[in-house]
Amino acid sequence: MPISWDPQAQQFHLRSDSISYVMRVLDNGWLGHLYFGTPLADGAVYSYLGPKDFFGFSNRLGEPVALEYPTGGSGDYRVPALAVEHGDGSTVLDLRYKSHRLISGKPALAGLPSTYVEVGGEAETLEVVLADNVSGLEVELRYTLYRSRPLVVRGARIVNKGSAPLIIRTAMSASLDVPDADWTLITLDGEWARERHVDRARLRPGRQSVGSNRGTSSSQHNPFVALARPSTTEDRGEVIGVSLVYSGNFVAEVEAESFGTARVRVGINPEGFSWLVEPGAAFETPEAILVYSASGLDEMSQAYHDLYRTRLARGAWRDKPRPILLNSWEAAYFDFDEERLLQIASSAQDLGIELFVVDDGWFGRRDDDTTSLGDWQPDPRKLPGGLETLGAKVEALGMRLGLWIEPEMISRASRLYEAHADWQIAIPTRPKTEHRNQHVLDMSRPEVVDYLFDTLSSVLGSAPISYVKWDMNRTITEPFSPTLPAWRQGEFMHRYILGVYSLYDRLTKAFPGILFESCAGGGARFDPGILAFAPQGWTSDNTDAADRIGIQFGTSMVYPVSSMGAHVSAVPNHQTGRTTPLSTRAGVAFFGAFGYELDPTKLPDDEKVQIREQVVFYKRWRELLQFGRFHRLRSPFEGDGNDSAWMSVAPDRRTAIVGFYQVLSRVNNGPRRLPLRDLDPSASYRVSVWPEPETVPVPVLKLGGDVLMAAGLALEATRISAAQGDFHARIYVLEAI
Ligand code: GLA
Repeated sequence: MPISWDPQAQQFHLRSDSISYVMRVLDNGWLGHLYFGTPLADGAVYSYLGPKDFFGFSNRLGEPVALEYPTGGSGDYRVPALAVEHGDGSTVLDLRYKSHRLISGKPALAGLPSTYVEVGGEAETLEVVLADNVSGLEVELRYTLYRSRPLVVRGARIVNKGSAPLIIRTAMSASLDVPDADWTLITLDGEWARERHVDRARLRPGRQSVGSNRGTSSSQHNPFVALARPSTTEDRGEVIGVSLVYSGNFVAEVEAESFGTARVRVGINPEGFSWLVEPGAAFETPEAILVYSASGLDEMSQAYHDLYRTRLARGAWRDKPRPILLNSWEAAYFDFDEERLLQIASSAQDLGIELFVVDDGWFGRRDDDTTSLGDWQPDPRKLPGGLETLGAKVEALGMRLGLWIEPEMISRASRLYEAHADWQIAIPTRPKTEHRNQHVLDMSRPEVVDYLFDTLSSVLGSAPISYVKWDMNRTITEPFSPTLPAWRQGEFMHRYILGVYSLYDRLTKAFPGILFESCAGGGARFDPGILAFAPQGWTSDNTDAADRIGIQFGTSMVYPVSSMGAHVSAVPNHQTGRTTPLSTRAGVAFFGAFGYELDPTKLPDDEKVQIREQVVFYKRWRELLQFGRFHRLRSPFEGDGNDSAWMSVAPDRRTAIVGFYQVLSRVNNGPRRLPLRDLDPSASYRVSVWPEPETVPVPVLKLGGDVLMAAGLALEATRISAAQGDFHARIYVLEAI
C-alpha cells in the first residue's frame, strides 16, 4: 500500500517509489507535517520529527510547528492556508482531526481541471477531514500519491456543516512547512513577449511571493515556485517544486520565519477574493502538485513534464504527433481574403506544412482590432463561401484547416454588443477601462457560456476544422457581475475562470477531434489548468529566435515540449527587429510544437529549399522532439547567457537531438565542452550536425555515451567557430550505432 495509517502513532505515511510524505495527528488533534523527501522505511514511526509535548502556539512563544493546513489567530503568526469569517465577524479556527479515508485512484474535481489516473493501482488518494467544532466548518484535505512518481497532488474542500453562513477569505490548495530556510527561490517571471524567464534568489526573512490579479495566470508570473538548495544544479541537489493547476488569479508564496523554517503556500490569490459558503455547501480549491527531487532541477522537471503530458492533458491529441502548422498572423495580419489565404496555404503545402491556421480577422467585419469580437460568423467580404468553402479548398490542397477565436471578448463595434452590452464586465456606476479596443465578457454568467457554446459549436461544426487557437488578449478590469449580490462580488474572478473551464470542457467534448491550442496575448495563460483542455499553448508572441531560447528554457522548468507552440517567423523579427539566420529560427522552434508564422509566398527560393529541409527534418524526428525526455544543458540565465543548450532523448536512449545556441559570435573562444545527459553510457553514438554546413564540412564523430556525458561534446571538434556569425544554432543528431 503506498499510503499507510498507523493508528498507534497516529501517523500517515505516503510512500511512492521515489518520495515519502509523512504526517501525524498531534496530541491536540492538529494535523502536523513531519517530512517530505526521499523515501523512508515503511512501518517506522517518525513522530520525533514533530513537536514533542505540544501545548499550542501561545505556550511555546510561537515556536513554529509544521502543520498541514494552518490557520491564524491562535498563535501561529505565519501566513495561513485558510482564513474565514464567521457570522459574528470573528476569524479563528481550530482544525482538529476528525476522520480519514483512502480512495483508490483519484476522484475528479467538479468544475476544475485535475490530474487523473488511467491504470488501476497507479495512484491512491488519502482524504483527511479536519473539523472546527465551534463553527461546524470542515476541511477535507486530499493527497494523491502516484505509485511511481516523485510527487503529491494536494487540494482542499471546505465544507460548512454549521448552521450559519461563513465567508472564506483565503483557501490555499496546499501549504507546506519545511524545517529550514536555507533555500533559493525559483520563479518564472516576465512580461508580454518575455514570459517565464528563470529568476533565482536566496530566501530572505519574511514573505516573498509571486501571483496574479489580472484574471489570467499572467505573463508576469507563472503559478509555480521551487525551493532549491543554493548548491542545487540541474543534476544535483534538493529541490521542491510547487505548481498550481489553475488559470486565474493565484498566489505562490514562501515565508522564511524567525526560527529559521519556511512555509510555502499556493492557491487562489486571496487579494480581492472571498467566497460565501452557506450551511451545507462546500468550496473546492484547485489542486497543487508538489514534487520532490534529491537530484536536481532536471528530475523535478521530468516529473512535471510526464505528469502534465500524460495525466493532465487529455483527449485524442494527447499522445498524437502534433502537425506542423503555418499561422497566418504574421503572414497577413488582418489583410486577407480567400484568394490570399489560399495562396499562402498552397505555398505552405508545397513546403510540406500540414496545417493552415487562419488567425484573427476572418469574422464579423474585422479589418483591424477595433471591431467584431463576439460576432463569430465569417466575413462575407473576405470569405464569400464561408468557412465551409475555405475548408474544402484547403483540404483539397492536402492540408488541414485551423481557426483562431477569442471567445471571452466583445468589441464595442459588434452585433453582440448591440444585443448584449450588458454581458461585458463592468461596474455600472464607473467608467470601463478599454484595452486593445475590447472588453471582456462576464464568463461567470451561465447564459454567456451557453451562448458562446452554441455560437462556437455552429462555427466549428460548419467546416472541416481540425485545430483551434483560443486567444484571450486582455486582462480583466472593473471586476463585477450584476448577477451576484454585493456579498458575493469577491467570488467573481474565480467564477470567471470556472466559466472559461466550463466552455473549454463543453467544446473539447463536443469536438473531440480538434486540437486546441491556448493563447493569451502570447503566453499569459500558459498554466497547468489550461493544459487539461488544450494540450499545447502559444508560448509567447515573441518569435525572435534569440529571445525564444530564454522563454522556452524557462517554460521547460514545468511544461513539456509538446505543450510549447514554437514557430519560425520572418526577419527582421516583427517584435524585436532582429535578424537571425533561418536555420537558427528553426533550430530553436524544433524544440516545441513546431510551425511557421510568415508569408511563404514572399520567400526567396533558397529559403524555400531550407524550409523544405527543416520540415523533412522535423517530421523525421517529431516524436522524439515532442515526446522525448527534454533536458536543459546550459542556461541562458546563468553567466553571461551567451551560450545555451538543451537536448531531447528518445525513451530507449538510442537517439537524441541536441540544440546548442550561441547568441554573439566571439573570437578566440577557447575550448568549450557540453556535457550531455541521459545517454546510454555503454552505447556508441554517431554524432552528426544538422544541417551539414556548406562552408566548413563537419566530420561525423563516433563517441561513447560515457564520454559524451562525463567529459562532454567538444564543440570545437564539430568545427564551431566565430565564422558562423551571431545567433548561431547547432543541431546535433545522436544515433546509437
Ligand atoms: C494575440 C496572439 C497573436 C495573434 C493576435 C491576433 O496577440 O498572441 O498570436 O493571434 O492576438 O489578434
